[in-house]
Amino acid sequence: MQVDVIDHPLAAVALTVLRDEKTPRVGFRVALHDLATMLIYEATRELPTAAVRIRTPLAETTGTRLAGEPVVVPVLRAGLGMLPAAHALVPDAVSAFIGLARDETTFQPTVYLESVPADLSGRPVLLLDPMLATGGSALHALRLLADRGARGTVVVSVVSAPEGIAALDASGLDIRLVTAAIDEGLNDTAYIVPGLGDAGDRIFGAV
Ligand code: PRP
Ligand code: URA
Repeated sequence: MQVDVIDHPLAAVALTVLRDEKTPRVGFRVALHDLATMLIYEATRELPTAAVRIRTPLAETTGTRLAGEPVVVPVLRAGLGMLPAAHALVPDAVSAFIGLARDETTFQPTVYLESVPADLSGRPVLLLDPMLATGGSALHALRLLADRGARGTVVVSVVSAPEGIAALDASGLDIRLVTAAIDEGLNDTAYIVPGLGDAGDRIFGAV
């Protein structure tokens, strides 16, 4: 599995805002949008393109269009905080949704929504979730996407734990991970340390 950690001063600044417990909800959302933009820019680097002939006001020239319609898949809830950045960069992308809630004692994901196209073969897919902790949620989503034909899915995460990366790697799935940080590890409640806390709660509030 290819793992790319984004190393950029602006990404480091946005990540620090996200980590800071004093950052209020509105600031958290803004920093997440900014950092997601940088991560998705990198995650889309390999998108297939096709040449297109256009006319400038002065001459004919060759330009570029995306060769296919990418599919962006936020994992609800927290992945929704990254979706506006994906829409801004890839306006023609199709959005699909996977709703997962991690059980607080078993740390296993329970599924409450799977709204994903039946056939993903040949389509570039980006999976959006700010947190890769045990990797259980991402693996559930990735298996669903692979069952529907997705290959080479790019997982876009803000903070990743070594345990989650190892779980994705061990799955043998054809994937790439783009992340802003690989943290120290998980605590005894499977939260990432130092991490940024509960991403969904920090974006939307605790329910
Ligand atoms: C969080 C996070 C990931 C998952 C990561 O979601 O957004 O989906 O936990 O943990 P894992 O790698 O151990 O599976 P959560 O289930 O808390 O739901 P939420 O986004 O609705 O808050
Ligand atoms: N989910 C979160 O939102 N944060 C963590 O640290 C782990 C799982």
